[in-house]
Amino acid sequence: MKIKSNTILLALCCVFSPLLPHTVTAGDQSVPPAPNGITLPENYRDWPVIASSHRTDNNTLRVILGNGIAVTAARSGNTNPWPDGAILGKMVWKDASLRAWEKAVVPGKFVHAEFMVKDAAKWAATGGWGFARWKGMDQVPHGADATFVQECFGCHTPVKDNDYVFTHPAQLP
Ligand code: HEC
Repeated sequence: MKIKSNTILLALCCVFSPLLPHTVTAGDQSVPPAPNGITLPENYRDWPVIASSHRTDNNTLRVILGNGIAVTAARSGNTNPWPDGAILGKMVWKDASLRAWEKAVVPGKFVHAEFMVKDAAKWAATGGWGFARWKGMDQVPHGADATFVQECFGCHTPVKDNDYVFTHPAQLP
């Protein structure tokens, strides 16, 4: 009897889950989307590195990643503007030191993952970029509602002439 009701529940979930807001767009469905509907890009852990940075004002290390479209654009210098479909990711960790070599600053506690998704038409109001952030190891979406993007966009506006992007792809021989 128990198994049967579980089976029915499971069947109902399968039928109705496509109607739930969390499943509207493609992406990692195990993590709630950002308040503006952007979902966590599924394979970001496998994306190539575009650059890294170190903020000495808040002691954090950052690695800037890109999806395939972004990396192709970065390596061909096609970044102003970045093409539609490009996604930039930024992973942030608190500074830590290597126990075996204290002067080596390495990633410590994970702070958050941020993304900028380029779609010039869809995100025209924010420079053609959709912004999203997931906080901590639990990947909690940032922002009470979709207006959180004003905070992101506002701080990225000084680099409007670089298509709202601070990062310059790191040189590689
Ligand atoms: C207080 C200013 C500030 C705010 C607010 C801010 N950013 Fe940024 N962001 C920066 C700076 C400075 C960099 C480049 C330095 C670095 O690597 O951290 C950056 C870099 C990035 C990058 C890498 C691409 C690039 O532009 O270099 C992404 C992605 C990003 N931010 C997303 C976001 C998202 C999403 C939000 C809002 C949830 C946000 N940012 C809010 C200042 C800000």
